[in-house]
Formats: sequence, C-alpha cells, structure tokens
Amino acid sequence: MTKVKNWFIKTINSTLGQKMIMSISGLFLISFLVIHLLGNLMLFKEDGGTAFNAYANFMSTSSLIKLVEIVLVLGFGLHIYTAWRLTKYNKQIRPQAYVYSRPDVNSSWIARNMGFVGSIVLIFLLIHLYNFWFKYKFMADMPMIATGEYKDLYSFLKLTFIEEWWISVFYIIAMIFFSLHLAHGFESSLQTLGLYHKKYTPMLKKLGLLFAIIVPAGFAVMPLYFLSQFFLGNY
Ligand code: HEM
Repeated sequence: MTKVKNWFIKTINSTLGQKMIMSISGLFLISFLVIHLLGNLMLFKEDGGTAFNAYANFMSTSSLIKLVEIVLVLGFGLHIYTAWRLTKYNKQIRPQAYVYSRPDVNSSWIARNMGFVGSIVLIFLLIHLYNFWFKYKFMADMPMIATGEYKDLYSFLKLTFIEEWWISVFYIIAMIFFSLHLAHGFESSLQTLGLYHKKYTPMLKKLGLLFAIIVPAGFAVMPLYFLSQFFLGNY
C-alpha cells in the first residue's frame, strides 16, 4: 500500500503528472463552459429576461448546483495552482535561454506565452466573478423582478454591459485570449494524455479548434448583443 502511495505522490509531482492534472482539470472545466454558454443563451430570448432570471435563480438556490460549485472551485483551483507550479519549474530548469534554441522557429507564439495568456484569462475570471457572481449574491441593492420573488440579474447584466461599456470591450478582448488559451490547451492535452491515433487525432484537433473558436465567440456575442441593442435604440 505504501509503495502505491509513494508511486502516486511521485507521479503527481512529476512534470508529466502535473501536465496530466492540467489536461484532466482543463477538460473538466470545458464541460462547465458548455453548460454556462448554453444557460447564458437565454439572454437572447426576447422575453425581458424572464427565462434567464428564473435560470439564474435556480442556479443560485439549488443544493445540487451548490455541490457542483464546490467541484468547480476545486477544478479551477487545481488547474491554476498546477499551471503556476509548472511555470515556476520551467523557469527554474531554464534560467538562461539556450544558445542554440530558436523558440521563435521551434514553437508557436501561444506555446511560448501560455503563462501570459492564462494570466489574462485568470484576470478576466476574477473580474467576471466580481461583476456578476459576487454582486448577484451579495449586492444589497440588486434590482428585483416585478413579482419581487427573486433578483433581476438580466436587467443588472444589461445595464452593466451598456452603461459600463468598457467592461463589454474588456470581455470581447478577453475572449480572444480565451480562444487562444483553449486552442493550445486542447492540443497539448491530446499530446500529454498520449491520445494519438492516425485517423482520429487530426479530427479531434480540428474539433478542438472549432470548440476554441465557437465557445469564446458565443460568449463575446453577449456584450456585443447588448451594445448593439443600445445603438439600435432598443434600450
Ligand atoms: C459574456 C459572457 C459571459 C456572461 C454573460 C456570463 C454570465 C455569468 C453570470 C450572470 C454569472 C452569475 C450567475 C450564475 O452563476 O449563473 C456567471 C458566473 C460564472 N461565470 Fe460567467 N459569463 C460569461 C463568460 C464566462 C466565461 C468565459 C467563463 C470562464 C472562463 C465564466 C465563468 C464563470 C464562473 C466560474 C461563474 C461562477 C459559477 C457558479 O458559481 O455557479 N463565465 N457568469
């Protein structure tokens, strides 16, 4: 038993083990993204926010979702902490640039700057959680729906994206970085997890790229939608 325990500790502390943790937690976080995007599509329903508000209320009161939130925090925590450890380790083993290495030729920009791009995504996430999750839960003067049953997150979100238009601009720019992050993350995961198949790997790579474009684009359309409503005079 001790042998298995030692092997396990050694494995998760090795570079490969940490890359595997990054890949698995990243793939798990992707499933959250799909659910989050699909739920947020209710913002486009032209019902004054009724469906979206009911959905947001369900998400913040359901016990099952509270449990899922704990797993989500653990997933994000593990992904971010391991990224930090790997970046620190990479810097330690390579204090000086190799004389003969030509990183500009041998690797893509995104592969070399994943730490930077990931940090921008993290900054986006912190600002995003403060803007909506934190304010929704704790802001005392959040508007209420007409019946007074629960909070009117739709109106608050619409107001934020229109009146604080710089937040919308920031969201749109952040989604470009997020797209790069997902594209490279997905490709690296296939490599780390050793998922190589002559026929299916190129297909999976294409699917990953498509996902990395469609999902951030879907999120970016949300602030764009509210801004366009404002310019069209529907606000
Ligand atoms: C414009 C695009 C987006 C909109 C309009 C949006 C909207 C929201 C809203 C309204 C909430 C709080 C209410 C709720 O839990 O449902 C929320 C929570 C959250 N969002 Fe987003 N979101 C967007 C993009 C993203 C992206 C790209 C990520 C990930 C990188 C993300 C990660 C999260 C997380 C982790 C939470 C907390 C979830 C929870 O505790 O249940 N969101 N979002």
